[in-house]
Amino acid sequence: MSEITAESVPEFPILRTCPFSVPETYRELEGTGGRIHRVRMSDGRPAWLVTKHDDARAVLSDARFSSEKLRPGFPELSPGGLKALTYFSPFLVNMDGPEHAQARRAVLGEFSVRRINAMRPRIRRIVDAAIDRMLEQPGRPVDLAAHLSQPVPTLVLSAFLGVPAEDLDAIERNTGKMLHEARTEDEQRAAAEALHAHLDLVIAAKEENPGDDFLSRQIDRSRREHGDAADRFELASLVQLLQIAGHASSAAMISLSVLTLLSEPEQLKQLTADPSRTPAAAEELLRFLSITDTGPLRLALEDVEIGGVRIRAGDGVLIPTLPANRDAGAFPDPDRFDIGRLPGTRHVAFGYGAHQCLGQNLVRAELQVVLDRLFHRIPDLRLATAPEALPYKYFGQFFGPVELPVTW
Ligand code: HEM
Repeated sequence: MSEITAESVPEFPILRTCPFSVPETYRELEGTGGRIHRVRMSDGRPAWLVTKHDDARAVLSDARFSSEKLRPGFPELSPGGLKALTYFSPFLVNMDGPEHAQARRAVLGEFSVRRINAMRPRIRRIVDAAIDRMLEQPGRPVDLAAHLSQPVPTLVLSAFLGVPAEDLDAIERNTGKMLHEARTEDEQRAAAEALHAHLDLVIAAKEENPGDDFLSRQIDRSRREHGDAADRFELASLVQLLQIAGHASSAAMISLSVLTLLSEPEQLKQLTADPSRTPAAAEELLRFLSITDTGPLRLALEDVEIGGVRIRAGDGVLIPTLPANRDAGAFPDPDRFDIGRLPGTRHVAFGYGAHQCLGQNLVRAELQVVLDRLFHRIPDLRLATAPEALPYKYFGQFFGPVELPVTW
């Protein structure tokens, strides 16, 4: 057993630069033999880093580790970063226990396999229209990130939520202002107020003109729970959460998936020869790419022993999905990309336990349709820039390329 102290240890987040490789720091930590490692957050506070697949699942399914990000001591990726949460109603990712379970039950049916599968024809039309526009571009190369990865998740979310795509774009821009551009607390509060004012208009418009969509049904639910008037603050928080959780993540995943398959011609050949392999290929892409490699994060509520280490109540615990999904104990030859790897769903790309990604069926449907349609319609698609020469960044918590020039 060991005590957590802020000594000379790696700083978290441990960011990657290569889309396909686990950062060297993780391999060095592994070399030390321990299962759980001390790291320090950017504010200097110490925290525990979990890198093994078994330990990640143990922490993520243990109610003694809290997701309530406003609890004192919750690990922060950047100093002051959690302040923005105070402007919204805590929703799902920031809740624990029965309160979380109840909030999740209220929306779970919307994300069921049945409901999402019913959206597949619409997703296919959205993807095909985006590919049409790519093909219509007068010159080459064409930026696939701008023409496919960005617009497809916006239009799919728009269809799912029942919120116009232009509003979703504006919500994303204003969220960016609040989270990344505001320099003072006043500026941050002003950005949050502008965001709420816009979301209020979006909800009011939907109250006037309900449809067969997520937001209309959530307005009905809220009215039933709160009497006649829906709780617009809570609904605004929900729409904003789904936009920030659902857009940049899916966009990064589409770009990186296309990049990976175009860099692995043998695997791509196997996939296009047998489209029934698409679901397994999508799972392997989720595992191999693990785009949420700066989280999930938790706070220990009690003393708990994990991987031979006693984690104390009040300690921060970090469970990045990338090292857990590249753990040789769970996935033989883990750094090899292999669409034939089974069973695909053991990965923790969507987290695990009570907070496991609510949007995972939507992501799967979207990714599978993109892979099927793109390589079928543009069989000689190829990269116009080598993967190592592309610019990458973290879109919030999600890693991906800024642009992806392709040609055919
Ligand atoms: C490739 C795309 C995506 C990845 C890799 C991803 C990953 C994750 C992960 C790792 C978590 C767990 C967080 C935690 O345990 O603290 C999570 C939670 C969540 N995700 Fe996703 N996500 C993706 C797309 C989406 C989409 C498209 C939506 C919705 C439209 C969505 C909605 C959510 C929500 C609401 C939660 C919180 C669930 C809860 O706390 O109960 N995600 N996601």
